[in-house]
Amino acid sequence: MTYDFRIEAADKPTLYRDLASALEGLVAGEPDAIANMANASALIWETLPDLNWVGFYRNVGGELVLGPFQGRPACIRIPFGTGVCGVAAQTRAVQRIEDVHAFPGHIACDSASNSEIVVPLIRDGELLGVLDLDSPNTGRFTEEDEAGIVRLGEILSNVL
Ligand code: SME
Repeated sequence: MTYDFRIEAADKPTLYRDLASALEGLVAGEPDAIANMANASALIWETLPDLNWVGFYRNVGGELVLGPFQGRPACIRIPFGTGVCGVAAQTRAVQRIEDVHAFPGHIACDSASNSEIVVPLIRDGELLGVLDLDSPNTGRFTEEDEAGIVRLGEILSNVL
């Protein structure tokens, strides 16, 4: 079995629809959270342009701990309320940041990052962790990206 997902689409809604379908196929029937986070980060990394980091922080006893990702090695532990990921975890609200340098307390793991989106992953009222995407481009993530990435988060929340 090969996993050759080559997704090319003319517009963002189509791109994210195809990406969501590919992700659903990739995680279908697999209960192992680490395997699903690992494959999800690889799929997103391969599909979305202009990223320098994509991956997961897991909620381990009220602290965010680094999970599977693609990109440079990153900060391992992030307290709730600190940085973009910690604020997303604490508020349970999507953080879509045009310019991370203007975000109070932003944690610069990779100096290449200029914009970021963090989606909380919630199942049955429980915060499982967050999905974090970073870009070297300022303002990389639009409302269309947010809608698409929130959908990916919904798919993932069911298999983590
Ligand atoms: N910049 C993030 C930290 C995680 S890295 O980007 C991988 C933040 O401020 O939460």
